[in-house]
Amino acid sequence: MSLAAEPRTGDRLRPHWMPTGWFQVGWSTDFPQGDVRPLRYFGSELVAYRDSGGTLRILDGHCRHLGGHLGYGGRVEGDCVVCPFHGWHWNPAGRNTHIPYQPDRPNKARRLRVWPVHERDGVVYIWHDALGRKPGSEPPNIFTDVAPHTVALEYHRCAPYGQIKFESLTLHPQLVVENAADPMHFRFVHGVRHFPVFLRRWEDEKHWFSQIGFGSRWREWQPDSHDGDTLSILNAGIGLSYTALSGSLNTLILLGTTPVDVGVSDMFQTVFLEKLPGDDPEVLRTRMAQATAQLPNDIAIWTRQRFEEPPALASAEGRAFRELRRWSRRWYPEIDGVAPLAGAGA
Ligand code: FES
Ligand SMILES: [Fe+2]
Repeated sequence: MSLAAEPRTGDRLRPHWMPTGWFQVGWSTDFPQGDVRPLRYFGSELVAYRDSGGTLRILDGHCRHLGGHLGYGGRVEGDCVVCPFHGWHWNPAGRNTHIPYQPDRPNKARRLRVWPVHERDGVVYIWHDALGRKPGSEPPNIFTDVAPHTVALEYHRCAPYGQIKFESLTLHPQLVVENAADPMHFRFVHGVRHFPVFLRRWEDEKHWFSQIGFGSRWREWQPDSHDGDTLSILNAGIGLSYTALSGSLNTLILLGTTPVDVGVSDMFQTVFLEKLPGDDPEVLRTRMAQATAQLPNDIAIWTRQRFEEPPALASAEGRAFRELRRWSRRWYPEIDGVAPLAGAGA
């Protein structure tokens, strides 16, 4: 099924499955030097490999000779991925550089699509834009860009315990970023004792941020009213939600939600635990189990949720929610003449 055709079916106000932005496709540890791996995202077959300098390259997966899949049985030679079918070489620019049985004349006309890749702190991102526009910026730095208190702290790497993948969920990434505008669900889905309150909120062209306070002593929109636990959430596009806990725990969590096909996404949960005295593998495993215990409760809701537009909103949640939907619209290019989220914020 074509992703681009999807807005024609069903509710025309639903977000379509081709949002623009950076999206997570795995972790650095998934792509060892010398390996060639198939991937499938945004309805596209892809191939991933590291070139001779170790830079991760992601290209369209089907060879432009006769369509063999480079990700199944392909190998790396120098900077190129070599097709398992007839041995054609493709370089990081998607160009054919060598045909073994016609060495003097590579094919100059055909080209593989090159997907921009960004690798940071053990996380692998690709840039997707259905209209072919280039990325204007990089994904955020989770250690410095989400909450100021984390800058002075030290964190463990996310590997090996803090990398959890949920495959093939019936889940749209829009529902995950809307978590940042939804403090009330923490009471019901996560069992906190008091209704959390918004403390801060801002947005710019690329980001949507909120900070939420937990406990009865926080006052709405007063970030200095208490020093208890807070959760800061920085959405960077539709596919990336960076969260920083502060207070009793200073854990950092990235939720990456990436469309695979219409109706299906993979979700990546990346957790960075603060370095504390006495940490050993056993302690870290226990702390990691605590840090990751709640997400399945969200997933149980999200995978069965219907997208309501416009939603019915109570006054404590209304403004932030409408602003988030309005901000979200920029990440959905108009495809087939259909602008998704057309009524958002109206
Ligand atoms: S299909 Fe790839 S070399 Fe022939
Ligand atoms: Fe939640």
